Amino acid sequence: MKAIVYEKYGPPEVLHFEDVPKPVPKDNEVRIKIHATTCHIGDTRVRSSTIPLAYWLPMRLYLGLLKPKRSILGMECSGTIEAVGKDVKRFKKGDEVFALTGFNFGSYCEYRCLAEDVSSEKEGMIELKPSNMSFGEAAAVPGGGLTALGILRKENIKKRDKVLVYGASGSVGTYAVQLLKYYGAEVTGVCSTKNLKMVKSLGADKVIDYTQEDFSTSGETYDFVFDAVHKLPRSQGKRALKKDGIFRTSHSSADIQPGDLKFLKKLIEAGKFKAYIDRTYSWEDIVEAHRYVDKGHKKGHVAITIIKKDGNKDAQ
Ligand SMILES: NC(=O)c1ccc[n+]([C@@H]2O[C@H](COP(=O)([O-])OP(=O)(O)OC[C@H]3O[C@@H](n4cnc5c(N)ncnc54)[C@H](OP(=O)(O)O)[C@@H]3O)[C@@H](O)[C@H]2O)c1
Repeated sequence: MKAIVYEKYGPPEVLHFEDVPKPVPKDNEVRIKIHATTCHIGDTRVRSSTIPLAYWLPMRLYLGLLKPKRSILGMECSGTIEAVGKDVKRFKKGDEVFALTGFNFGSYCEYRCLAEDVSSEKEGMIELKPSNMSFGEAAAVPGGGLTALGILRKENIKKRDKVLVYGASGSVGTYAVQLLKYYGAEVTGVCSTKNLKMVKSLGADKVIDYTQEDFSTSGETYDFVFDAVHKLPRSQGKRALKKDGIFRTSHSSADIQPGDLKFLKKLIEAGKFKAYIDRTYSWEDIVEAHRYVDKGHKKGHVAITIIKKDGNKDAQ
């Protein structure tokens, strides 16, 4: 099968196509024919080795100290089940699915095997694809969606709690705004001028342009401040908290549970949760997609379709 591989850490140009063996599912695994994946911030950081200092050594020991141990990136995908192991119960050939491939990566290729019952940031998670999403949209849900859910659910957000989401225009931020609205919170999204409309369209009650205004000096206080982009000085976030208010970031630990993708699928099908796709690239243009995401200003998500540029448009 064809795969996008990298053999050394570096700029987007380290990514290139190669033929690799098609994986064979174990008894408890399904083989997904991948239709779409994403250019996730995790893919770009791992490729370029721009890992935050605090995690650099443990991450490099895991990923490969001198060169990548896992040569195929891609943390999330969507596609069709093409083969099932003999013990698989939840899926059958032909099912459309979306999946987290997580820190085992391996979505930048034509086929990926995944155990049907895994549920962790490392091993991944798989579920039937929401019926009202394209493959590109569905591929963009697992990473940011499970992270936002795994962090926010622990905080016991109550109806009418006042919550501020800093960096509301990114992958985690766009999902956090929607989950918080689902929990009944009163949500203020902080983003730059060009993203105000988009964040409002996701349900934010109020939006603040961080290029024009410092939310922490306005006198407004919140029950919960969530720095979804991990760029807010902690002191600034805490300044805007009510007494006993809580501050968390997208690097806080996410408690991912079995059934979480199923929960997101239900929200999506109920029209309460959507993926905002900024751009869609064919996988032939993966280098360009990584260059774009490297700039750090994508809105929501960048989808990658595993088809030729002029290929089957149904896969988008
Ligand atoms: N996505 C995941 O699944 C995941 C999982 C675990 C942890 N994380 C961590 O969470 C952080 C965010 O990840 P992400 O995937 O959500 O990022 P992302 O989608 O790449 O974030 C890009 C967005 O952040 C906004 N932004 C950039 N600088 C900003 C600033 N100074 N203030 C406010 N907004 C700013 C950008 O808009 P403007 O430039 O227009 O402001 C853009 O819309 C990363 O540190 C990542 O490691 C992410």
